[in-house]
Amino acid sequence: MKKNKEKITKGIILAGGTATRLFPLTATTSKQLLPVYDRQMIFYPLNTLIKAGVKEILIIVAPEHSGQFLNLLGSIFEKLDVHLEFIVQTVPRGLADAFILGEEFIDDDNVAMILGDNIFEANISDSIKNFEKGGQIFVKEVPDPERFGVAEFDENGNVISIEEKPEKPKSNYSVIGAYVYDSRVVEIAKTLKASSRGEIEITDINKKYLEMNELKVKKIEGAWLDAGTFDSLLEAGRIVKEREIYKNFHSETEKAISEFNKNLKNIAKKKLF
Ligand code: TTP
Repeated sequence: MKKNKEKITKGIILAGGTATRLFPLTATTSKQLLPVYDRQMIFYPLNTLIKAGVKEILIIVAPEHSGQFLNLLGSIFEKLDVHLEFIVQTVPRGLADAFILGEEFIDDDNVAMILGDNIFEANISDSIKNFEKGGQIFVKEVPDPERFGVAEFDENGNVISIEEKPEKPKSNYSVIGAYVYDSRVVEIAKTLKASSRGEIEITDINKKYLEMNELKVKKIEGAWLDAGTFDSLLEAGRIVKEREIYKNFHSETEKAISEFNKNLKNIAKKKLF
């Protein structure tokens, strides 16, 4: 471990998984490479991190899609001030696996992890930029909290419990797919046992930080979609277009997207002449 190094916040995008709910679309490609309006889904979480000043990003992918991710992202950030790394998750063991797979990458820095299929309108850049220690999660009021991790608050607005997909949710505040932790998250993740659905749960990491009295929870406004079903994928595209979310991308992300488009045009030209 390096001594006296100033901590930075690195980024992880979890873009593996099986995406069964989007089958058969995902029989030929990764969910996170499907289009959301005019760009591949993966650019949305990438943009969230880049906007927050994160310059080192690890992308976790499923083995069958690693080549496709490299084709899209392998070289387009080369000239930019963003460094991408890739790692294959051989088995989708659960969201908390991001920190076990990311152990070397995280080292003793802080880490912001974003789910590859989560698109949100709220700007969480300041929370990522100003993060120092412990855990930081984000919640949004939803009509169907039983589908997600749910946070309960006391009368002073302090979080008092977090439950994964509870039958009787204690609030309507669902935990969205963006999390920031200090490097202790790696050791915490390693202690987790698989839940009844066979996954190591990020909710258990949040519970650990809550027990240590080090979990901060921020309520966010605006659209939040996990684009994991046909309907939510369609809705994500519609909202991105209507609210012009695609027009508010950070210039570095836009440059990377343009670079890919330029490369495609060059390839097309070479084939024609
Ligand atoms: P989910 O939507 O919970 O799972 P999934 O993508 O496999 O889809 P389905 O439930 O339809 O089978 O995953 C949320 C995000 O996290 C998504 O972007 C995929 C990613 N993920 C991984 O990369 N590895 C994992 O082990 C899991 C569980 C999810």
